Amino acid sequence: MVKIPIAASTPYEVTLGHSDSWMSNVSYWKDRSAIWVVTDETVNRLHGEAFHSQLHRFAEQIVWSVVEPGDGSKSLQTIERLVEQGLREGCDRHTLIIAFGGGMVGDLAGFLASVFMRGVPYIQVPTTVLAHDSAVGGKVAVNHPLAKNAIGAFYQPLGVHYNVSRLETLTPLEVRSGLGELIKHAYLSRHVLESSFEVDLFKALESEMDWVTWLAKGIDVKRTVVEQDEREQGIRAWLNFGHTFGHALESVETYRLPHGEAILYGMVFAFLLSGDVQRAASLKKWMDEQDVTPVDWKPFDAYLEKMTHDKKNRKGVIRFVLLRDEVVIEPVQIDRLQATFEKMKEWWT
Ligand SMILES: NC(=O)c1ccc[n+]([C@@H]2O[C@H](COP(=O)([O-])OP(=O)(O)OC[C@H]3O[C@@H](n4cnc5c(N)ncnc54)[C@H](O)[C@@H]3O)[C@@H](O)[C@H]2O)c1
Repeated sequence: MVKIPIAASTPYEVTLGHSDSWMSNVSYWKDRSAIWVVTDETVNRLHGEAFHSQLHRFAEQIVWSVVEPGDGSKSLQTIERLVEQGLREGCDRHTLIIAFGGGMVGDLAGFLASVFMRGVPYIQVPTTVLAHDSAVGGKVAVNHPLAKNAIGAFYQPLGVHYNVSRLETLTPLEVRSGLGELIKHAYLSRHVLESSFEVDLFKALESEMDWVTWLAKGIDVKRTVVEQDEREQGIRAWLNFGHTFGHALESVETYRLPHGEAILYGMVFAFLLSGDVQRAASLKKWMDEQDVTPVDWKPFDAYLEKMTHDKKNRKGVIRFVLLRDEVVIEPVQIDRLQATFEKMKEWWT
């Protein structure tokens, strides 16, 4: 088992292994009134029973909440329904919430933990590749119809525990989506860690992945960044590399493209803006080989409107995270954005 300590304001540990042996080595279960698992229908169908049967050793009462898969469940309405269930089934301040699923469940259950009874402890048991990113760092949120993740908090878990054998049931689409964030961490590694794992990751992707090793490397990048800037006052914004165009694309495509795939396109865009045509072209080549979902390109203005609402902007100026010799967050003029957009369209049509 690999263990990664996270020195956040409340420190915790991430573990990665091929089983749930972490359960016997943690102190979370002591004096719990109940354990409250939040999951989605797909994860519940594939892994719910096995997980449930292991939890019985640790609490007399297990509350089990299942929501519909997909970001539509990340809403205040779901929170209200969950709170009602929790109250009816006797959850209180001594209840431990477990987020059992991908990034959607992690954000939802983490937000629930941050507001239920003014805050109860929670842990993350991630079941997607993408969640190596979302489960670490303590950002929890639900969506508002006007903006994704608009209602949220910084709320650190007591721990994050990956059993990578659960990743075997992911669809190729969900694996690719998760790889989007892992590849982002690989690009950032040369700026954040002592050595880059970019080249090694692309080599490893040619054969079967050793998820414990590679997710641990991605988590190490995230750990290093959030330990320096837990509340996104500075360097944590680097993690938005690829997200300015990626989020715009995701939104114009009305979420037909999963998050990580949109970020892959977003990183090609950002490399072109950075003047790094070589990295842009080699990422595009890899994406084409992986059959990444094709984009139904719309006129530039549709994307511009979405980019105008990006959180990194200041006074209406669109700002991008760019990777040059150093990481820079740079204002970009509209004519440069349009030229880059036309290049992307030309490459993919
Ligand atoms: N908090 C953060 O820092 C942060 C960072 C990045 C993304 N996010 C959020 O994460 C979410 C995206 O994460 P995601 O891609 O993990 O989404 P997800 O949780 O919606 O999972 C994607 C799909 O995979 C299914 N699934 C999950 N585990 C499975 C398994 N083991 N086998 C088969 N199917 C499985 C789910 O049911 C779902 O249909 C978004 O809501 C995004 O906003 C949060």
